Amino acid sequence: MPNLPIEAEQFEKIRTKVFADSESAVRELASGIADFIRQRQTENRPAVLGLATGSTPVKLYQELIRLHREEGLSFKNVITFNLDEYYGLAPTHPESYRHFMEVQLFRHVDLPANQVHVPDGLVERDRVFEYCARYEAQIAEAGGIDIQIVGIGRTGHIGFNEPGSTRDSRTRLVALDRLTRRDAARDFRGEANVPAYAITMGIGTILQARQIRLIAWGDSKASILRAAIEGAETGSVPASFLQHHPDCAVYIDQTAANELTRFRTPWKVGPVGWDRQLTRKAVTWLAENRQKPVLRLQDEDYTENALASLLVETGSAYSLNIRIFNELQHTITGWPGGKPNADDSNRPVPAEPPFKRVLIFSPEPLDAEIGMAGTIHRLVSQRHEVTLAYLTSGSLGVPDGEARMAFSLLHELAVSGSGSRIQLDQLAKEIDSKAPFDEDSRDLRQFKGLIRRAEARASSQILRLSLDRVTFLDLPFYEQGRYRQFRWGAQDVDLVTTLMGSRKPHQIYLTGAGADPSSVTGITFHLVAAALQVCRQESWFSNCQIWLYSSNERPWPPHEIDMAVPLSPAELGIKLDCLYHHRSQRSQTPFTETQPGEGWQQAEQINRATAKQYDHLGLAEYEAIESFHRLKNVNAN
Ligand code: F6R
Repeated sequence: MPNLPIEAEQFEKIRTKVFADSESAVRELASGIADFIRQRQTENRPAVLGLATGSTPVKLYQELIRLHREEGLSFKNVITFNLDEYYGLAPTHPESYRHFMEVQLFRHVDLPANQVHVPDGLVERDRVFEYCARYEAQIAEAGGIDIQIVGIGRTGHIGFNEPGSTRDSRTRLVALDRLTRRDAARDFRGEANVPAYAITMGIGTILQARQIRLIAWGDSKASILRAAIEGAETGSVPASFLQHHPDCAVYIDQTAANELTRFRTPWKVGPVGWDRQLTRKAVTWLAENRQKPVLRLQDEDYTENALASLLVETGSAYSLNIRIFNELQHTITGWPGGKPNADDSNRPVPAEPPFKRVLIFSPEPLDAEIGMAGTIHRLVSQRHEVTLAYLTSGSLGVPDGEARMAFSLLHELAVSGSGSRIQLDQLAKEIDSKAPFDEDSRDLRQFKGLIRRAEARASSQILRLSLDRVTFLDLPFYEQGRYRQFRWGAQDVDLVTTLMGSRKPHQIYLTGAGADPSSVTGITFHLVAAALQVCRQESWFSNCQIWLYSSNERPWPPHEIDMAVPLSPAELGIKLDCLYHHRSQRSQTPFTETQPGEGWQQAEQINRATAKQYDHLGLAEYEAIESFHRLKNVNAN
């Protein structure tokens, strides 16, 4: 790779390749790995690969398997070393990294079993030190790692080297960070079940690999990537230690790259083309940076902040400020379904037809409520015909404790005469005899799905949604899968397409653009987008607006908001009441960067923060705001 930095990448201390999507990134990376393996075959030498687990490398492994099956890539000369393993988990445990590797890669290729190394999670405590030293020795005996694949955690960890790890750390037993354990809570059905310790290669071990390739997808990784790639080299962001490696490259998709200076504030790295979106971004950024409302920004504010070229193109700060202020002002509406009989030339939603059919997709119960409960309440009160479609049952997110509580309630009911006692008894037995990580039976999963239905119905009623308009699609990809191992297909898309066809909506609301592509939110976004493609030719489609509501992980920044729906204090109260009804989701939501609280606390803080941002930009002061981005081009994502 050439070493000269190009202008756009001048702030990046690790060479970073940004791809339109994760598919193209893994195609390029896998093809490089395949070339290397083949090269070594011709030299009759082994290729030593360092491997990672988690959601991120799944697609890379799928591509390697494809190369094996379709292009004859053999792994006979490959030796592998995995980065880490949960301490206390047997290799056969469904959540162990060893098991993950078997399912995702090893069993599908011709890699000899004796050339595979994954740290053993069951080594006795007093033998761990010696075991780790042996792991290091095995790497050295194999000739060292040629290509090391690493993902990055939201704490900045690589392997399980959490903040505080040193640059020269070696393979060892480590305690997991709270944020990391919370991120793994879904895999383990509750944070309490996530192992507290892991064995991991050290940073020093990783840095000895001849090539390192860091991969990451989705917006939840964007800010930690910025810290790792552009920030100071520091033990509080362990991935930043990669900055001084002689051959490290980062392969990321566009959403993961969004916080890098070249995308976040591109005017700081060189000349830019000032389109409408970028202009709005620059002005709101400047107002925030200068802590001034938009209408009070002066020419000096622009020129002193690398925005002189914007003034050259637009004339003066005065006219630019007014233009952007008006654009922002026009995003605000208390009529998310359009205001009947009003002039709509400057409103985000057309006035006609006065009463619209609205279709809202929620990846799991609670997602739509978090993003837009207040707006749903408004749409219903303003007499639009709202259908709320829960795409998946959400059963995987129900901890056993919640199911147990529901059984005992039903048990009381059964004892009092109605209900099927036998079946409940069986389920109660299963849940009590199940080891913490055993798979749920079909019946138990179904029961957990029913818990989420009950919660979703109760919360919809608070929003005054008519229950016959609350639909549960229970998409097959989810019912047949487990976290990190979902595969969606035509059947899922058909179910969504059929619902769209039957509703012929004037508005569709969805979420998940930019989410990790293997998460439920990411998958459901892509399959709704695929269904929209199918419906493009339908007559209703040309009159249908598509709106993206935000998740707690990525609230819309002001320049991306196309509709801002203010909530009064009373409406915010209704929203919170609605969110509380999803009680099985306590302690299930991943912490966001700034907010460690529960999902509903995060949602409240985000809605209040958006209102504050609008206030600071010089717009009206509201209690809270729900925000939406308009998706104009389905192909774009
Ligand atoms: C996995 C590992 C971890 C993950 C990281 C990101 O072997 O060492 O550092 O790479 O936690 O996980 P995902 O890919 O699930 O976001």
